[in-house]
Amino acid sequence: MNQVYEKVVKCYESIKDRIPFKPKVALVLGSGLGNYADTMDVKAEIDYSKIEQFPVSTVPGHAGKFIFGYVKDVPVVCMKGRVHYYEGYPISDVVLPTRLMKMMGAEILFLTNASGGINPSYGAGSFMLIKDHISCFAPNPLIGENIEEFGCRFPDMSTVYDKELQSAIRKKAEECGIPLAEGIYVQLTGPSFESPAEIQLLRTLGADAVGMSTVVEAIAANHMGMRICGISCVANLAAGMTDQPLTHEEVQEASNKAAPMFRQLVTESIASF
Ligand code: HPA
Repeated sequence: MNQVYEKVVKCYESIKDRIPFKPKVALVLGSGLGNYADTMDVKAEIDYSKIEQFPVSTVPGHAGKFIFGYVKDVPVVCMKGRVHYYEGYPISDVVLPTRLMKMMGAEILFLTNASGGINPSYGAGSFMLIKDHISCFAPNPLIGENIEEFGCRFPDMSTVYDKELQSAIRKKAEECGIPLAEGIYVQLTGPSFESPAEIQLLRTLGADAVGMSTVVEAIAANHMGMRICGISCVANLAAGMTDQPLTHEEVQEASNKAAPMFRQLVTESIASF
């Protein structure tokens, strides 16, 4: 058996008796949405550290567990804390949790994150519906022997972000009076923030927001045929767009401030899927 596949199966086998239901939605909580589970009807939690061989995040504010609960009537598995490539894990470990949630039965992957705004019309605290992404600056998680159990060797990427889910999110944002921009998200490896010249480059390439996650997860989920959607919370203007230096604390602070609206948008969207 492929070693990467075997590891996901092992993780699944070690926790399957503690999974309370077949989740419909897998929700990845980005910075600021960490407390999202407080608004859920929680049925079970599994600490990442208790799952054999599971990659455990080392970033402050990203401590991790799976939380199983209902958002209105929808069974959801949440990832509180994700693993980033810059922590030094192989890219196959970075997408292992995504693959595991699919193995649990999740059909929809809802990705959230905090990002830097490249589009000059975005302010700190803006929300951006991810319409497409640029992956060329991050390693592709499908490199290596193809895992046939997950999907094909050369997956189509022409509609990674599901059009119907996008419409549902757009509609809910409008109903809730939450301004929602739409754009292209680019993932870089981090952990350093970008230089102003790099932001200029990314803008020229058509990116609207930049971050250090999400795209590799979307590629792995797309490979497995999941329906994918994503919202980015623009926590700061990208490097060079203000005189201020960027700090992780600033990103966390801005995402925390935007959290109540973010929570509402996520909840209403999931309930309408
Ligand atoms: N750059 C990259 N990742 C980020 C940023 C940024 O400016 N803000 C939040 N995550």
